Amino acid sequence: MITKFDEVIVGEEDIRRRVLEIAAKITDDYRDREPLLVCVLKGAVFFTADLVRQVSIPCELDFMAVSSYGSAADSSGVVRILKDLDAYITDRHVIIVEDIVDSGLTLSYLRKNLTARNPASVEVATLLTKPARQKVDIKCKYVGFEVPDRFVVGYGLDFNEHYRNLRFIAALPEEELG
Ligand code: IMP
Repeated sequence: MITKFDEVIVGEEDIRRRVLEIAAKITDDYRDREPLLVCVLKGAVFFTADLVRQVSIPCELDFMAVSSYGSAADSSGVVRILKDLDAYITDRHVIIVEDIVDSGLTLSYLRKNLTARNPASVEVATLLTKPARQKVDIKCKYVGFEVPDRFVVGYGLDFNEHYRNLRFIAALPEEELG
């Protein structure tokens, strides 16, 4: 049992409710467009899985894995693709599904990379944004929650691969960040 998280930032029920709302918006916005949801591994895996099951129009799912050079807590914006899409996205309506936009550098790279493949459109659905840390201006069409400038874990987000399995999002105790 993991009990050390005193600071729950987003609770399980709030996540469930917001995921339903975002799925309803996507359902509305993409009627007759069969969007391709691109889950960015590994952090967005639970958000994507919960979201896509609530979208009630035809859609497809694909996965990308990227690694951003830098420390666990700070990305550099230099991104390496570890796993690329299986699908060709030319003329497709793509929705990038992310866990968190922190500096925004990773997403900025990803969006440019996918846009270069000539999709019909590219939008972003992110579970979290950390506005205080954002370095580049990124428009996210769907945002779950804004979180304070703390390192957060749970519901897919990790610290050194730990805590992804929490059902809620919590601030990592400062002493653990080092
Ligand atoms: P960015 O390039 O600075 O926006 O960072 C993007 C990636 O860094 C995210 O997709 C996460 O994987 C990771 N990240 C940034 N902030 C946090 C956090 O507070 N907790 C867990 N992972 C984070």
